[in-house]
Amino acid sequence: MSDLSVEAEAVEVSIRGLTKIFGEGEGAVTAISDADLILQRGEFLSLLGPSGCGKTTLLRIVAGLEFPTEGSVDVRGKSVWNRHKRSKAATKPISMMFQEARLFPWFTVAQNVALPLRVAGMPKAQRIERAHEICETVGLAGFENHRPAQLSGGMRQRASLARALVTDPQVLLLDEPFGALDAMTRDALNMELMQVCARADVTTILVTHSIAEAAFLSDRVVVLAPRPARITGVEAIPFPRPRSLDLQRQTEFQDMVAHLRTALVGGAE
Ligand SMILES: Nc1ncnc2c1ncn2[C@@H]1O[C@H](COP(=O)(O)OP(=O)(O)O)[C@@H](O)[C@H]1O
Ligand SMILES: [Mg+2]
Repeated sequence: MSDLSVEAEAVEVSIRGLTKIFGEGEGAVTAISDADLILQRGEFLSLLGPSGCGKTTLLRIVAGLEFPTEGSVDVRGKSVWNRHKRSKAATKPISMMFQEARLFPWFTVAQNVALPLRVAGMPKAQRIERAHEICETVGLAGFENHRPAQLSGGMRQRASLARALVTDPQVLLLDEPFGALDAMTRDALNMELMQVCARADVTTILVTHSIAEAAFLSDRVVVLAPRPARITGVEAIPFPRPRSLDLQRQTEFQDMVAHLRTALVGGAE
């Protein structure tokens, strides 16, 4: 099925002709070149590509943090960008999570998690209750009153994920969220991420360096060539859900990882 044949009402994110050039003249850097991508509602999509190929830039444009040079991004039919002006209505249902947890050290976990609700003007009692709920969902029950410095790296990323989920986003953008963690913590968090995303029925774009992570979590994996980011392949990942970590030991999974690796290397040539 080609991207363009996806039925309009099921489309959550639509990226068309997206180009981003930083700077001008001799020093100009083309970070993204003419990218097209359509995500269906509830889909989990990963972006896989070498460092510096424009993955973060793409997420930042979708999130409304960076304006595109050319092209459009629509979320549920609303344009995120009108020329260089961001639409608040279009970005409202979007949450982004970064590689670093970016928590305020003087706030408790619950206060950090509740921050987007505070910004949105939700009354204190209500937002703290909601923060506690979402802390439980991401495995932080009992840590709500801790400060970030009292948490492990994995726990801090859980708090960061909780903060991204607390507003009930329709679109979740994850920029190498677990890249700095050890393999075991990362496996555990990926399992939970998959369950949380399925339950919350969010549409997710994950940026990762890990081919196995992309293959394990995704419905589709988009392979990007080095700078400027060009989409060189879109691979459907057909493994049924729910998936368990055992999947990673199966031959079909390892074949898929090898296939994606070839696609990635092919794109780099
Ligand atoms: N604000 C900026 N100003 C100038 N160049 C930038 C800016 N942000 C990113 N770039 C450049 O755009 C390219 C893509 O960056 P980035 O999106 O961070 O890549 P990735 O996330 O895939 O590693 C890089 O060459 C980077 O140096
Ligand atoms: Mg990046």
